Amino acid sequence: MDNKVQRVAVVTGASQGLGKAIAEKLLSEGKKVAFLSRSQKKLDLLREQHLDKASRDEAVFMAVDVSEHEATKQAVHDILSKWDRIDILVNNAGIRTQTSIEDMTLEEWDQIMSTNLASTFFVSQAVMHAMKEQKWGRIINMSSIGGQDGPLTSSAAYCASKAGQLALTKVFARSLAPYGITVNAVSPAAVRTPEMDNVPTEKLEKMIQMIPIGRVGEAEEVADLVSYLTSENGGFVTGATFDINGGRLMR
Ligand SMILES: NC(=O)c1ccc[n+]([C@@H]2O[C@H](COP(=O)([O-])OP(=O)(O)OC[C@H]3O[C@@H](n4cnc5c(N)ncnc54)[C@H](O)[C@@H]3O)[C@@H](O)[C@H]2O)c1
Repeated sequence: MDNKVQRVAVVTGASQGLGKAIAEKLLSEGKKVAFLSRSQKKLDLLREQHLDKASRDEAVFMAVDVSEHEATKQAVHDILSKWDRIDILVNNAGIRTQTSIEDMTLEEWDQIMSTNLASTFFVSQAVMHAMKEQKWGRIINMSSIGGQDGPLTSSAAYCASKAGQLALTKVFARSLAPYGITVNAVSPAAVRTPEMDNVPTEKLEKMIQMIPIGRVGEAEEVADLVSYLTSENGGFVTGATFDINGGRLMR
């Protein structure tokens, strides 16, 4: 194992929630991290918070819509020009809707599929050439219990996109294993996000009743799991899906 290389990580959807916690965890471990997200405003705030690392050239903050594949390709190109390598990709950006089967439109379906599923494919496609040359890489796809259990609290399009990520995880894992690249999925449920602050107490309590551990999860707990999977020691784990859901779904 080569522990001397300073690993370069790309995290999509890193402006808040799980993506932010993961990007900050990887940064705290001494990796160089590209924070990718849609919102320039939120990225500017993050840049201010991490000014020491940004000025030491260990963090970059890039406004990119991952559903625009040419733009993400360009972002990957820019990161490679700057840091010369990409070791870790966390496909975390995602949108969730609760639209019923009856009310789903083609427009909403396409938006969810291109943000959650097609981006997972095309960003992985864009980074894998560098990883293959390096003979080392870690790709994490942030799926969801929605892709495993089809809960009625999420739209069919969301659930299908998250199930699709699990299939892509296996296809990429098999194809990239000979190059020292591992590909795994993380499948959370009920992890605290900024959005959860607006959920009425009664609804939140109902949700917690369905979780054997008896509480919601924290973004830092997901970040710790991703930290292991992307570590030097994570090389013998590939094509797997890691549930992090307080026991809400047991398989
Ligand atoms: N929080 C949970 O309990 C939970 C459960 C299951 C799955 N997930 C998955 O984890 C991931 C992160 O979820 P979260 O709860 O932190 O969500 P969030 O809404 O708090 O954050 C999502 C992030 O993705 C970014 N994003 C959305 N669309 C984008 C686009 N087109 N281009 C670039 N960035 C985009 C947002 O700007 C934001 O930074 C998602 O893929 C979600 O489906 C979360």
